[in-house]
Amino acid sequence: MRKILVTSALPYANGSIHLGHLVEYIQTDIWCRYQRMIANEIHYVCADDTHGTPVMLMAEKENITPEKLVELVHKEHSQDFNDFNVSFDNFYSTNSIENKELSESIYKKLANNNKIEKKEIEQFYDTEKEMFLPDRYIKGECPKCGAIDQYGDSCEECGSTYNPTDLIKAYSVISGTPPVKKKTEHYFFKLSECSDFLEEWTRSGTLQLEASNKLKEWFEAGLSDWDISRDAPYFGFEIPNAPGKFFYVWLDAPIGYMASFKKLADKKNLSFSEYWEEGSQTELIHFIGKDILYFHALFWPATLSFSGFRTPSKIYAHGFLTVNGEKMSKSRGTFVTARSYLDTIKNPDYLRYYYFSKLNDSMEDIDLNLEDFIVKVNSDLVGKFINIPSRTSGFIKKYFNNIIISTEEISIQDSKQIIDDLISIKEEVISLYEARLFSKLNRLLMSYTERVNEYVNRLEPWILAKNDAEHTSMSMLHQVCSTALQSFRVLSIYYSPVMPDLTSKIAEFYGESNYQSIEAIHKNIKNISDYKHLLTRLDKVSVDSMLRKNSI
Ligand code: MSP
Ligand code: ZN
Repeated sequence: MRKILVTSALPYANGSIHLGHLVEYIQTDIWCRYQRMIANEIHYVCADDTHGTPVMLMAEKENITPEKLVELVHKEHSQDFNDFNVSFDNFYSTNSIENKELSESIYKKLANNNKIEKKEIEQFYDTEKEMFLPDRYIKGECPKCGAIDQYGDSCEECGSTYNPTDLIKAYSVISGTPPVKKKTEHYFFKLSECSDFLEEWTRSGTLQLEASNKLKEWFEAGLSDWDISRDAPYFGFEIPNAPGKFFYVWLDAPIGYMASFKKLADKKNLSFSEYWEEGSQTELIHFIGKDILYFHALFWPATLSFSGFRTPSKIYAHGFLTVNGEKMSKSRGTFVTARSYLDTIKNPDYLRYYYFSKLNDSMEDIDLNLEDFIVKVNSDLVGKFINIPSRTSGFIKKYFNNIIISTEEISIQDSKQIIDDLISIKEEVISLYEARLFSKLNRLLMSYTERVNEYVNRLEPWILAKNDAEHTSMSMLHQVCSTALQSFRVLSIYYSPVMPDLTSKIAEFYGESNYQSIEAIHKNIKNISDYKHLLTRLDKVSVDSMLRKNSI
């Protein structure tokens, strides 16, 4: 049995969860549910990323304390994740005592290892607002590629990171005034000294090919030391023995993974060190978006390694979501919040299924084409998948007292074959889940769904029902409908990590239905419940009203 600690990136506490975020949380959740299905020990943790200037300024605007804001957002995010069936074992906050203690102790260890350096730097200062301007509050032209309107810490066009002072034609986002340069003392993590370790670590199979290529570019450009401090006023943790200086949010954010697990470990009596000590035999897997690769593949492993902790086993980066082929946009109404989806379309399984059908193990962007979304849900899920029980269960109820027969007793040859084949793909299903080749897996499962439908079409139970007056047990009608329903049971188990709501209703229909019982259907004679309607068609009206809710 593997022991795995899985994380999704921590959502910022200054905004709502949207469909872009959900690419990540749904992808991770499917993978975690699959791990639970095959009975590995898995812990899935996350937290709100609470620190930094955006939260501070937002709270100021709303006239509440940052703590209050963080509390309100945490409630909202928790509800959103819960309603999308994202099965965190702990969803915590980076503004926690565990995180404060871990951040301080990691910082001290880095300092003891000579990895921290104090330097006087010049930073931009907003004289009107009387504060140093954090990276994200200065915009200007990227020093590397010249793209305009780029933030002070990194460029969205070329992905490079730099110091805000390197920006060309800078301006303050808060007051609009051109910032002035002012001297201040900052703390740096000496990343430049970590390049040998990092190059080695990068080659150890922890990254996707595209990601390690990206890293090669960064190594070639040379790693610069990393400024991990910010001046007051700042919402965050004060640096030990450095009054008025705070940890930059990106220092304590990934430590938030540890802190969330710490909280979980305390609650569930798990060993924290088993998962975090150097040389740990457990797995640590981070799911992230491609935009935060630099932080996770460079800063984070270096931070961990030079403070005496284990490093991640895998970093799985995914691409960005586009809607109808374009970047999500507030003005087009395609910046869709999780809540507006839930209010209009309601069923989370539709989106979970759609993302599943599109995702793979690469960093390519994925597109939510809303027309295609409607077509796919209706034709795959309603037209094919649910079509199996809706065409066959009625006969089982009417003539056979809701009893389906075991596969062993099915004598029509190609009936048995379908079920045998479905069971024999088990290993393939598992390896596709494991490798995150979700879209390929979906094609496999849909091809079987189609095959069962073709079988039902060919054997026409509705004609058999008319022709056979006796309706004895084991009759042709009984065998055909049982084959369809046994197959559907196996398919539904395979799909259970993807569509937890739908498949748990299906499991109820069968009394019990889990991965461990896949082979047992050979032996069981099953008493099923009355079939109830499982899924309605997705209509354009609700998709349109979702978009309207997000239009400004
Ligand atoms: N707070 C940081 C992560 C800290 S992890 C120690 C952050 N937050 S975020 O809210 O901006 O994003 C959270 C996750 O959602 C990131 O992995 C990010 O890549 C992902 N996504 C945000 N928008 C997305 C899309 N439009 N499409 C796909 N993923 C997206 O980054
Ligand atoms: Zn650039």
